[in-house]
Amino acid sequence: MNKFMKESEILVDSQENILTEKDQIKSLLKEMKKEAKDLLDVMWSREEMMNNKDFVNTTNLKIKNMLDLIIDNLYWYQKIGWKKFLVNRELIEQNEREERIKKEKERLVKWLEALMKIDDFYFSFHGKLGEEKLVKTLSAYGYDEFQKVSVLDVGCRDGSWLRKFQDGGALPEKLAGIDFYHPIVDQAKKMSAPGIQFFEAYPDELQFEDQKFDVILMFGVLMHVLDESLRKKIGRELLRVLSNDGIIITSNLTKDAMTKLEPYFAFTSIGLELEELIDLFPDCSIHFERLPQCGLAVIRKKIARSQGINVNGE
Ligand SMILES: C[S@@+](CC[C@H](N)C(=O)[O-])C[C@H]1O[C@@H](n2cnc3c(N)ncnc32)[C@H](O)[C@@H]1O
Repeated sequence: MNKFMKESEILVDSQENILTEKDQIKSLLKEMKKEAKDLLDVMWSREEMMNNKDFVNTTNLKIKNMLDLIIDNLYWYQKIGWKKFLVNRELIEQNEREERIKKEKERLVKWLEALMKIDDFYFSFHGKLGEEKLVKTLSAYGYDEFQKVSVLDVGCRDGSWLRKFQDGGALPEKLAGIDFYHPIVDQAKKMSAPGIQFFEAYPDELQFEDQKFDVILMFGVLMHVLDESLRKKIGRELLRVLSNDGIIITSNLTKDAMTKLEPYFAFTSIGLELEELIDLFPDCSIHFERLPQCGLAVIRKKIARSQGINVNGE
Protein backbone atom coordinates (compact mmCIF):
# COMPACT_ATOMS: atom_id res chain seq x y z
CA MET A 1 0.00 0.00 0.00
CA ASN A 2 1.51 3.33 -0.99
CA LYS A 3 1.99 6.58 0.92
CA PHE A 4 -1.02 8.23 -0.69
CA MET A 5 -3.29 5.41 0.40
CA LYS A 6 -2.22 5.73 4.01
CA GLU A 7 -2.68 9.48 3.98
CA SER A 8 -6.04 9.20 2.31
CA GLU A 9 -7.25 6.69 4.86
CA ILE A 10 -6.29 8.97 7.66
CA LEU A 11 -8.15 11.73 5.88
CA VAL A 12 -11.37 9.84 5.38
CA ASP A 13 -11.28 8.67 8.95
CA SER A 14 -11.56 12.20 10.19
CA GLN A 15 -15.22 13.12 10.67
CA GLU A 16 -14.51 16.71 9.76
CA ASN A 17 -13.17 15.73 6.35
CA ILE A 18 -16.06 13.44 5.60
CA LEU A 19 -18.41 16.34 6.13
CA THR A 20 -16.28 18.61 4.01
CA GLU A 21 -16.28 16.17 1.14
CA LYS A 22 -20.01 15.65 1.31
CA ASP A 23 -20.60 19.39 1.49
CA GLN A 24 -18.27 20.01 -1.40
CA ILE A 25 -20.17 17.62 -3.64
CA LYS A 26 -23.51 18.95 -2.51
CA SER A 27 -22.57 22.54 -3.20
CA LEU A 28 -21.07 21.56 -6.54
CA LEU A 29 -24.34 19.94 -7.57
CA LYS A 30 -26.32 22.90 -6.23
CA GLU A 31 -24.20 25.36 -8.20
CA MET A 32 -24.60 23.35 -11.37
CA LYS A 33 -28.37 23.12 -10.92
CA LYS A 34 -28.57 26.87 -10.35
CA GLU A 35 -26.47 27.64 -13.39
CA ALA A 36 -28.59 25.36 -15.57
CA LYS A 37 -31.77 26.97 -14.27
CA ASP A 38 -30.44 30.50 -14.88
CA LEU A 39 -29.47 29.60 -18.41
CA LEU A 40 -32.87 28.12 -19.14
CA ASP A 41 -34.65 31.11 -17.58
CA VAL A 42 -32.77 33.49 -19.82
CA MET A 43 -33.52 31.34 -22.82
CA TRP A 44 -37.27 31.05 -22.22
CA SER A 45 -37.73 34.70 -21.31
CA ARG A 46 -36.23 36.27 -24.42
CA GLU A 47 -37.71 35.44 -27.73
CA GLU A 48 -34.77 36.74 -29.72
CA MET A 49 -32.52 34.30 -27.84
CA MET A 50 -34.77 31.36 -28.64
CA ASN A 51 -34.37 32.31 -32.29
CA ASN A 52 -30.62 32.57 -32.03
CA LYS A 53 -29.41 29.10 -33.01
CA ASP A 54 -25.86 29.65 -31.75
CA PHE A 55 -27.08 30.70 -28.35
CA VAL A 56 -29.47 27.75 -28.06
CA ASN A 57 -26.76 25.30 -29.15
CA THR A 58 -24.22 26.69 -26.71
CA THR A 59 -26.73 26.58 -23.88
CA ASN A 60 -27.74 23.02 -24.74
CA LEU A 61 -24.11 21.98 -24.77
CA LYS A 62 -23.44 23.64 -21.43
CA ILE A 63 -26.38 21.91 -19.86
CA LYS A 64 -25.39 18.60 -21.36
CA ASN A 65 -21.87 18.96 -19.92
CA MET A 66 -23.29 19.77 -16.51
CA LEU A 67 -25.55 16.73 -16.63
CA ASP A 68 -22.59 14.55 -17.62
CA LEU A 69 -20.67 15.87 -14.66
CA ILE A 70 -23.55 15.19 -12.30
CA ILE A 71 -24.00 11.67 -13.67
CA ASP A 72 -20.28 11.00 -13.39
CA ASN A 73 -20.26 12.22 -9.79
CA LEU A 74 -23.30 10.16 -8.94
CA TYR A 75 -21.59 7.08 -10.38
CA TRP A 76 -18.70 7.59 -8.01
CA TYR A 77 -21.01 8.31 -5.14
CA GLN A 78 -22.85 5.04 -5.72
CA LYS A 79 -19.67 3.10 -6.21
CA ILE A 80 -17.85 4.08 -3.06
CA GLY A 81 -20.26 6.19 -1.04
CA TRP A 82 -19.91 9.70 0.32
CA LYS A 83 -17.49 8.59 2.91
CA LYS A 84 -14.61 7.98 0.55
CA PHE A 85 -15.83 10.08 -2.28
CA LEU A 86 -13.23 12.67 -3.11
CA VAL A 87 -10.08 11.39 -1.53
CA ASN A 88 -10.16 7.88 -2.87
CA ARG A 89 -11.52 8.63 -6.28
CA GLU A 90 -8.07 9.42 -7.64
CA LEU A 91 -6.67 6.27 -6.13
CA ILE A 92 -9.42 4.05 -7.51
CA GLU A 93 -9.02 5.60 -10.95
CA GLN A 94 -5.29 4.96 -10.76
CA ASN A 95 -5.84 1.30 -9.83
CA GLU A 96 -8.29 0.89 -12.68
CA ARG A 97 -5.77 2.46 -15.05
CA GLU A 98 -3.03 0.12 -13.91
CA GLU A 99 -5.30 -2.89 -14.33
CA ARG A 100 -6.12 -1.79 -17.91
CA ILE A 101 -2.43 -1.30 -18.68
CA LYS A 102 -1.61 -4.79 -17.40
CA LYS A 103 -4.31 -6.33 -19.59
CA GLU A 104 -3.16 -4.30 -22.60
CA LYS A 105 0.39 -5.61 -22.22
CA GLU A 106 -0.87 -9.21 -22.05
CA ARG A 107 -2.97 -8.60 -25.15
CA LEU A 108 0.01 -7.15 -27.03
CA VAL A 109 2.22 -10.19 -26.45
CA LYS A 110 -0.53 -12.64 -27.48
CA TRP A 111 -1.26 -10.56 -30.56
CA LEU A 112 2.40 -10.48 -31.56
CA GLU A 113 2.76 -14.24 -31.17
CA ALA A 114 -0.19 -14.76 -33.51
CA LEU A 115 0.93 -12.07 -35.95
CA MET A 116 4.42 -13.50 -36.33
CA LYS A 117 2.95 -16.60 -37.93
CA ILE A 118 1.12 -14.79 -40.69
CA ASP A 119 2.51 -11.36 -41.49
CA ASP A 120 5.84 -10.03 -42.59
CA PHE A 121 4.60 -6.53 -43.43
CA TYR A 122 4.76 -5.93 -39.71
CA PHE A 123 8.40 -6.84 -39.42
CA SER A 124 9.42 -4.95 -42.47
CA PHE A 125 7.87 -1.75 -41.16
CA HIS A 126 11.31 -0.13 -40.91
CA GLY A 127 11.43 -0.31 -44.72
CA LYS A 128 8.78 2.42 -44.74
CA LEU A 129 11.26 4.86 -43.31
CA GLY A 130 14.54 4.17 -45.12
CA GLU A 131 18.08 4.51 -43.93
CA GLU A 132 18.84 7.60 -45.96
CA LYS A 133 15.89 9.44 -44.45
CA LEU A 134 16.99 8.52 -40.95
CA VAL A 135 20.56 9.72 -41.51
CA LYS A 136 19.25 12.99 -42.94
CA THR A 137 16.97 13.50 -39.95
CA LEU A 138 19.78 12.80 -37.49
CA SER A 139 22.14 15.23 -39.14
CA ALA A 140 19.43 17.94 -39.30
CA TYR A 141 19.42 17.82 -35.49
CA GLY A 142 23.20 17.69 -35.08
CA TYR A 143 23.46 13.97 -34.38
CA ASP A 144 25.64 12.90 -37.28
CA GLU A 145 28.80 12.20 -35.29
CA PHE A 146 27.80 8.69 -34.37
CA GLN A 147 30.75 8.01 -32.04
CA LYS A 148 29.36 10.60 -29.59
CA VAL A 149 25.74 9.53 -29.69
CA SER A 150 23.86 7.27 -27.28
CA VAL A 151 20.88 5.52 -28.83
CA LEU A 152 17.91 3.56 -27.52
CA ASP A 153 15.80 1.63 -30.02
CA VAL A 154 12.34 0.87 -28.63
CA GLY A 155 10.77 -2.17 -30.30
CA CYS A 156 14.18 -2.99 -31.72
CA ARG A 157 13.23 -6.25 -33.44
CA ASP A 158 16.47 -8.00 -34.53
CA GLY A 159 18.59 -4.94 -33.68
CA SER A 160 19.28 -4.00 -37.28
CA TRP A 161 18.98 -0.23 -36.73
CA LEU A 162 21.50 -0.34 -33.90
CA ARG A 163 23.94 -2.35 -35.98
CA LYS A 164 23.70 0.34 -38.63
CA PHE A 165 24.70 2.93 -36.01
CA GLN A 166 27.62 0.74 -35.04
CA ASP A 167 28.67 0.39 -38.69
CA GLY A 168 28.55 4.18 -38.88
CA GLY A 169 31.02 4.52 -35.98
CA ALA A 170 28.83 4.48 -32.85
CA LEU A 171 30.29 2.85 -29.74
CA PRO A 172 28.41 -0.38 -28.99
CA GLU A 173 28.30 0.40 -25.24
CA LYS A 174 26.27 3.51 -26.05
CA LEU A 175 23.64 1.50 -27.92
CA ALA A 176 20.67 -0.25 -26.34
CA GLY A 177 17.55 -1.92 -27.67
CA ILE A 178 14.38 -3.11 -25.99
CA ASP A 179 11.59 -5.28 -27.24
CA PHE A 180 8.79 -6.87 -25.23
CA TYR A 181 8.98 -10.23 -26.96
CA HIS A 182 11.77 -12.48 -25.77
CA PRO A 183 12.38 -14.57 -28.95
CA ILE A 184 12.99 -11.25 -30.71
CA VAL A 185 15.41 -10.08 -28.03
CA ASP A 186 17.31 -13.41 -28.23
CA GLN A 187 17.56 -13.02 -31.98
CA ALA A 188 18.85 -9.43 -31.64
CA LYS A 189 21.54 -10.58 -29.18
CA LYS A 190 22.66 -13.39 -31.47
CA MET A 191 22.93 -11.14 -34.50
CA SER A 192 24.77 -8.20 -32.86
CA ALA A 193 28.22 -7.41 -31.54
CA PRO A 194 28.72 -8.10 -27.82
CA GLY A 195 28.74 -4.47 -26.53
CA ILE A 196 25.21 -3.56 -27.61
CA GLN A 197 22.73 -4.15 -24.81
CA PHE A 198 19.35 -5.74 -25.50
CA PHE A 199 16.60 -6.09 -22.94
CA GLU A 200 13.22 -7.70 -22.84
CA ALA A 201 11.12 -4.78 -21.56
CA TYR A 202 8.05 -2.65 -22.03
CA PRO A 203 8.77 0.97 -22.86
CA ASP A 204 6.68 2.32 -19.99
CA GLU A 205 9.09 0.90 -17.40
CA LEU A 206 12.69 1.32 -18.43
CA GLN A 207 15.65 0.39 -16.28
CA PHE A 208 17.77 3.30 -17.51
CA GLU A 209 18.71 6.38 -15.54
CA ASP A 210 17.18 9.80 -16.30
CA GLN A 211 18.36 11.56 -19.47
CA LYS A 212 20.59 8.69 -20.56
CA PHE A 213 19.96 8.81 -24.32
CA ASP A 214 20.55 11.43 -27.01
CA VAL A 215 18.46 9.63 -29.59
CA ILE A 216 15.46 7.37 -29.07
CA LEU A 217 14.08 5.48 -32.06
CA MET A 218 10.59 4.02 -31.95
CA PHE A 219 9.33 2.71 -35.24
CA GLY A 220 6.02 0.88 -35.54
CA VAL A 221 5.37 0.52 -31.82
CA LEU A 222 2.98 3.17 -30.47
CA MET A 223 0.51 2.47 -33.25
CA HIS A 224 -0.29 -0.93 -31.69
CA VAL A 225 -0.87 0.28 -28.18
CA LEU A 226 -4.63 0.61 -28.09
CA ASP A 227 -4.90 1.76 -24.48
CA GLU A 228 -4.42 5.51 -24.16
CA SER A 229 -3.15 5.35 -20.57
CA LEU A 230 -0.38 3.00 -21.65
CA ARG A 231 0.53 5.23 -24.59
CA LYS A 232 0.76 8.21 -22.23
CA LYS A 233 2.85 6.24 -19.75
CA ILE A 234 5.24 5.29 -22.55
CA GLY A 235 5.48 8.95 -23.58
CA ARG A 236 6.40 10.02 -20.03
CA GLU A 237 8.96 7.26 -19.61
CA LEU A 238 10.71 8.04 -22.90
CA LEU A 239 10.94 11.72 -21.96
CA ARG A 240 12.46 10.69 -18.64
CA VAL A 241 15.34 8.78 -20.25
CA LEU A 242 15.84 11.33 -23.05
CA SER A 243 18.59 13.91 -22.51
CA ASN A 244 17.36 17.50 -22.40
CA ASP A 245 18.70 18.25 -25.86
CA GLY A 246 17.92 14.77 -27.24
CA ILE A 247 15.42 13.70 -29.89
CA ILE A 248 12.82 10.97 -30.18
CA ILE A 249 12.31 9.82 -33.75
CA THR A 250 9.14 7.84 -34.19
CA SER A 251 7.13 6.61 -37.11
CA ASN A 252 3.63 5.20 -37.04
CA LEU A 253 0.85 4.47 -39.45
CA THR A 254 -1.35 7.48 -40.13
CA LYS A 255 -5.15 7.50 -40.02
CA ASP A 256 -5.57 7.30 -43.79
CA ALA A 257 -3.08 4.42 -43.99
CA MET A 258 -5.34 2.51 -41.61
CA THR A 259 -8.11 2.34 -44.20
CA LYS A 260 -5.84 0.36 -46.53
CA LEU A 261 -4.85 -2.31 -44.02
CA GLU A 262 -6.08 -5.86 -43.75
CA PRO A 263 -8.87 -5.94 -41.14
CA TYR A 264 -6.93 -8.21 -38.74
CA PHE A 265 -4.20 -5.57 -38.67
CA ALA A 266 -6.42 -2.51 -38.75
CA PHE A 267 -8.37 -3.62 -35.69
CA THR A 268 -5.21 -3.97 -33.66
CA SER A 269 -3.64 -0.66 -34.71
CA ILE A 270 -4.48 2.99 -34.49
CA GLY A 271 -3.41 5.76 -36.83
CA LEU A 272 -1.32 8.40 -35.10
CA GLU A 273 -1.31 11.97 -36.31
CA LEU A 274 0.37 15.06 -34.93
CA GLU A 275 -2.63 15.70 -32.67
CA GLU A 276 -2.21 12.41 -30.79
CA LEU A 277 1.55 12.89 -30.47
CA ILE A 278 1.06 16.34 -28.92
CA ASP A 279 -1.09 14.65 -26.31
CA LEU A 280 1.50 11.96 -25.59
CA PHE A 281 4.50 14.29 -25.46
CA PRO A 282 3.40 17.47 -23.68
CA ASP A 283 5.84 20.36 -23.39
CA CYS A 284 7.67 19.19 -26.47
CA SER A 285 8.15 20.59 -29.92
CA ILE A 286 7.18 18.10 -32.60
CA HIS A 287 8.11 18.14 -36.24
CA PHE A 288 5.68 15.91 -38.13
CA GLU A 289 6.18 14.76 -41.68
CA ARG A 290 3.78 12.67 -43.70
CA LEU A 291 5.50 9.88 -45.64
CA PRO A 292 3.79 7.20 -47.75
CA GLN A 293 1.75 5.17 -45.24
CA CYS A 294 3.30 6.60 -42.11
CA GLY A 295 3.98 9.80 -40.21
CA LEU A 296 7.53 10.52 -39.14
CA ALA A 297 7.87 12.68 -36.05
CA VAL A 298 10.88 14.22 -34.35
CA ILE A 299 10.17 15.15 -30.76
CA ARG A 300 12.26 17.43 -28.55
CA LYS A 301 11.79 18.78 -25.06
CA LYS A 302 11.02 22.50 -25.14
CA ILE A 303 13.54 22.91 -22.35
CA ALA A 304 16.33 22.39 -24.92
CA ARG A 305 15.50 25.66 -26.58
CA SER A 306 14.55 27.71 -23.56
CA GLN A 307 17.92 26.91 -21.98
CA GLY A 308 19.65 28.00 -25.15
CA ILE A 309 21.19 24.63 -25.92
CA ASN A 310 22.44 24.73 -29.45
CA VAL A 311 20.42 22.19 -31.40
CA ASN A 312 20.09 22.36 -35.14
CA GLY A 313 17.18 21.26 -37.22
CA GLU A 314 13.64 22.38 -38.13
C1 LIG B 1 6.70 -3.12 -36.56
S1 LIG B 1 8.03 -3.85 -35.70
C2 LIG B 1 9.28 -2.67 -36.07
C3 LIG B 1 10.62 -3.12 -35.71
C4 LIG B 1 11.73 -2.08 -35.77
N1 LIG B 1 11.46 -0.96 -34.90
C5 LIG B 1 11.97 -1.62 -37.18
O1 LIG B 1 11.78 -0.44 -37.46
O2 LIG B 1 12.36 -2.45 -37.97
C6 LIG B 1 7.64 -3.48 -34.02
C7 LIG B 1 8.56 -4.12 -33.00
O3 LIG B 1 8.23 -3.54 -31.74
C8 LIG B 1 7.93 -4.52 -30.79
N2 LIG B 1 6.85 -3.94 -30.03
C9 LIG B 1 5.60 -3.66 -30.46
N3 LIG B 1 4.89 -3.09 -29.48
C10 LIG B 1 5.72 -2.98 -28.42
C11 LIG B 1 5.56 -2.47 -27.11
N4 LIG B 1 4.41 -1.96 -26.69
N5 LIG B 1 6.63 -2.53 -26.28
C12 LIG B 1 7.83 -3.03 -26.70
N6 LIG B 1 8.03 -3.54 -27.93
C13 LIG B 1 6.98 -3.52 -28.76
C14 LIG B 1 7.59 -5.79 -31.55
O4 LIG B 1 7.96 -6.95 -30.86
C15 LIG B 1 8.42 -5.62 -32.83
O5 LIG B 1 9.69 -6.16 -32.69
